[in-house]
Amino acid sequence: MKIGILTGGGDCPGLNPAIRGCVCKALDLGYQCVGFLEGWKGATEGNAIPLGLAEVQDIVDRGGTILGTSRYNPFKKEGGPEKVEATLKRFSIDALVAMGGEDTLGVAHKLFQRGVKVVGVPKTMDNDLSATDYTFGFDTSVTRALEACRALIDTGASHRRVMVLEVMGRHAGWVALFTALASGADWVMLPEFETDLEVMYNHIKHVYQRKKYALVIVSEGAHFKEEEAEKEQKDEFGHIILQKRGLGEKIAKNIEKATGIESRYSVIGHMQRGGAPTLFDRILGLRVGVKAIELISEGRFGMMAALKGQEVVGVPLAQAVSALKMVDSKWYDLARVFFK
Ligand code: F6P
Repeated sequence: MKIGILTGGGDCPGLNPAIRGCVCKALDLGYQCVGFLEGWKGATEGNAIPLGLAEVQDIVDRGGTILGTSRYNPFKKEGGPEKVEATLKRFSIDALVAMGGEDTLGVAHKLFQRGVKVVGVPKTMDNDLSATDYTFGFDTSVTRALEACRALIDTGASHRRVMVLEVMGRHAGWVALFTALASGADWVMLPEFETDLEVMYNHIKHVYQRKKYALVIVSEGAHFKEEEAEKEQKDEFGHIILQKRGLGEKIAKNIEKATGIESRYSVIGHMQRGGAPTLFDRILGLRVGVKAIELISEGRFGMMAALKGQEVVGVPLAQAVSALKMVDSKWYDLARVFFK
């Protein structure tokens, strides 16, 4: 059996452990592995490398992906899906492991519907994939944001300022919510729940009287009342490039204007997506990688390795890509205990 592996979409810590999990389990079962480079681009253009023990022996603690990645969508290219199928044939691939978020796994699901033998491994720092409790990358990226919060509180408290930290997460607020809860921040702006800026300004003034500083976490995709329409740039999967929105800067300026308190903003950006994976992401990456190969060995194609409670199980890819997992009112109610 020959297995192809690819990593697509935004990279995140945990991908290398997942590749290692796949390769080691495949070798256990006497399978061979090749890695397609830069996600669906490599699978479309036939760009691949052999993957054996030598390639995965030193990668469990490395961020990023040794295979490279891209936001390339074969379904947006002339004859793209046919080219992927031809590549798999040319390389004599019996089954494919696609590691990614909703975009990469959405492509995997469409290919499965065309007859390609594919299984999925969920990854995204946004943690917005359905059918799995957590995705690797999330724990590391929030951990990194928490380090940034500690630094911002130190300098913000010294200068008696309001500090605003913009974090990634796209259209889901998980990264912002967990960062805010775990850093002791004073407000969080989420994409799922529109912020009333007046309420936020009043809360900040109130907090500031007591603490002489305040920390506000802004999710890059957050919305607020009376927001002006923005010009949008989109990627190949039709997603707005939120990094170019500059929401953290806007909010910091508005806070300063409305409250009269000196404010500064920081955008952690891609720094929260790189670096060594946390323990949680290493173990989760290894486990879902191993599970993906088990799914293949059992002939359970069109499935994804998912974390459900303490177990890693197979779930249909269709379920994983059906809808984004968003912060719900249960979590929002918890957040409101701390951020009024
Ligand atoms: O989906 C992961 C993510 O990190 C989002 O949180 C963010 O909006 C986006 O990718 C940034 O993408 P890029 O690396 O292409 O700028």
